[in-house]
This record gives sequence, structure tokens and C-alpha cells, in this order.
Amino acid sequence: MTSFNNWPQPSAEGIESLFDFYRAHKVLVTGGGSFIGSRLVDALLEMDCFVTVLDDFSSGKKSNLQLQNPNLRIIEIELSDKVSAAAHFSNQDLVFHLAAVHGGRGFIEKYPQKTLANLVLDHNVFELSVANHVQRIVHASSACAYPIHLQEDAKSLLKLSELELGSMDSPGCTPDGTYGWTKLIGEYQLEKLVAPTATTGRSARIFTAYGERENESHAAIALIAKALLKMDPYPIWGSGLQTRNFTYVTDTVRGLLQLGADSRPISFDVMNVGTSDHIPVLDFIETIFEIIGWHPNEISKDLSKPQGVASRAADNTYMKRTFGWEPRVSISEGLTRTIEWYSQLEGRPNSIDALTQLLESR
Ligand SMILES: NC(=O)c1ccc[n+]([C@@H]2O[C@H](COP(=O)([O-])OP(=O)(O)OC[C@H]3O[C@@H](n4cnc5c(N)ncnc54)[C@H](O)[C@@H]3O)[C@@H](O)[C@H]2O)c1
Repeated sequence: MTSFNNWPQPSAEGIESLFDFYRAHKVLVTGGGSFIGSRLVDALLEMDCFVTVLDDFSSGKKSNLQLQNPNLRIIEIELSDKVSAAAHFSNQDLVFHLAAVHGGRGFIEKYPQKTLANLVLDHNVFELSVANHVQRIVHASSACAYPIHLQEDAKSLLKLSELELGSMDSPGCTPDGTYGWTKLIGEYQLEKLVAPTATTGRSARIFTAYGERENESHAAIALIAKALLKMDPYPIWGSGLQTRNFTYVTDTVRGLLQLGADSRPISFDVMNVGTSDHIPVLDFIETIFEIIGWHPNEISKDLSKPQGVASRAADNTYMKRTFGWEPRVSISEGLTRTIEWYSQLEGRPNSIDALTQLLESR
């Protein structure tokens, strides 16, 4: 098969069993130019799908996409404009909805108002999909939908289970900031909009993905960028004791694809897509230093910066039990690939000043 992919990384390990389901499907991917979205598009093209990407390229990039692939159509569009968007939803089998106003911890805490746009994007995409009789909508939700009170103790090592949220009609939900609210309400909108129709919906609560094509507004790439520039003291946000379940992007993409192919006769469902490992940020950076072969003399902990919840990891039992989904790429392997890609990335900040300026601007 001709490869249009412009780099040697696989689009998603372990998707062979999904080929028969996806082959020749017509698939719409909103936000397809994004870090995760573009890896999903690569996987769909590899499975011989006809893919349409709708993206305003506000944070996504056309250069992430296989521009010459005849099975890919790219439409630059603002999805808050429902009238213009409507034309592109007819004759599609599946919709993966990843378009969102989103960024790293700094962005979502600095610009909560901007993230409210997600309510409109979700509503438009779900309504247009249902009106056009799409079979399945997969929605990129987030771990930020989970109540923050469950994630306040770094020592508890609680793994967030889908059961923690129970019914969305239940009281006591305090998602992670405005962005978290928009993702939770996105799930709610999807459940209610598909309920009376033949369209089915799946929300994927994505947990801290990292990998190639991510940008410096997210912790993993910011930490790699600082290490490659040998910043010493080496700055981190918060104490470094906060845990995250860093999940390599091909595992995330395989989770989304499993949800797209889910044959259970259920109108709507929610599943965690993430590893169950609690990795303290301090351990994560040690792995980066080891791969790079450099260590700072001092780690400077900036407690004035937002550090997010103290503890976060996914209970992924439900995904494992339902699809046999398991993360396949270890942290050291995922980081090795990501560092190799980032170190060769054209136009990456080439000085500490340039990186600091970039991080401040996001
Ligand atoms: N990266 C993560 O760890 C993570 C974690 C949880 C959830 N998610 C969700 O996964 C999805 C993809 O995230 P990502 O990190 O790959 O990149 P991202 O957040 O940059 O992707 C968002 C995409 O939506 C597009 N977009 C934004 N506003 C739009 C609009 N009005 N009209 C059309 N397109 C628009 C952007 O250009 C971009 O391609 C998002 O929905 C995000 O909320 C990501």
C-alpha cells in the first residue's frame, strides 16, 4: 500500500482486528488537524476509510494531515457556524468529534470563558450528526469531567472509575473547572440527543495523552522542551508530586477506534481511555532526563503556577473487559519516540528565552 505518512511512527499499534469493521467506511473527524485527531485520521486512512476532516485549524495544523491522500478531504470550517457546517454531515457512517477549545493546564485555567464555546460546538456536531442519521458518534470527553474532590490526595492512588460519576442527573458533580464542565455537559448532550434516535453515542474520557504532534502548551512537551534546552535550574509547575497517567497517543487512538466499532446495542455509553498508572511528575521528568542523557543540578518548583488536581489515573477495567483494550506503549518507549520527534522538529524554540516567551504566551 502507498504510504502518505510523513514520518515513521505507527498510527496506532494493534488496530489489525478493527480493519474489517472500518474498511470503506465514510468517517467525519472534527478537529482532525489536532494532535490526537490527526493520529486518528492516519489510522482511519490506514484502514481504507474515506475521511473528511472539519477543522478551523485554530490549534490543529494542516501539516499534520496527509494532504496528498485521495481518500482524505479537508474542510476548513468554524463549527460554531451550524449553517455552513450542515453541508458536510450527509452521507457519513461515523463521526469522531474532537474539535474543542482546549489546551494545557495553563490555558484552561487562564481562559475558562473561551472553553465555553465547546457547548456550542458539541451541540452543533451532535444535532447535525443525528439529523443526518450517522450510525455512531464518538465524542472526545476528558478526565476533567470527573469531580475534583476525588483527586485531591496524591497518596490515595484512587483510580477514577466510570461509576464515580454514576448518573449525570445525580448531585455532587464538581468537574475540573469550566473546561471539565463543558466536557461533562457534552456527554449529557450526546446522551439526550441520541436517545430517541437510531444514532448511537460513545463518550471517551481521555486521560492525559502525550506523543508526537502535541505542542508545548501541554506538560509533556513543555518538560521535554526545557530538558532539550538544558534549563538549569529546571522549572516545573507545582511540587512535582502530583500524579498523572500519561498515556501514549496511539493507545488513546486505539481506544477511540474501539468505541467507534462498539457493537453492543446500547444507545449511549461512557468509557475511560487512559492508563491506570499514577506517575508523579517528578518521576516523569527523571525518565526524560535519562533518555536525553542529561540531568539538571537543580529542579525549581514553581508553586505559583497552576498544577491541577493532585492525583489522576484511570480505572480502565471497563475498557479492558469490554474490548480487551490495554495500553501497549510504555512510558519509556512513548517518551523515547516523542523526544526523538521533538528534537528534530523544525521551528521548535531554540533558546531558553524563546521557549519562555512561547510558554508565557499560551
Ligand atoms: N490532549 C489530551 O490529553 C486530551 C485529554 C482529554 C481530552 N482531550 C480532547 O481531545 C480532543 C483533541 O485534543 P488535542 O489535545 O489533540 O488537540 P486540540 O485540543 O488542540 O484539538 C482541538 C481541535 O479542534 C479544532 N477546533 C477548535 N475550535 C474549533 C472550531 N470552532 N471549529 C472547528 N474546529 C475547531 C482545533 O483547530 C484542533 O484541531 C479535544 O476535544 C480535547 O478536549 C484531549
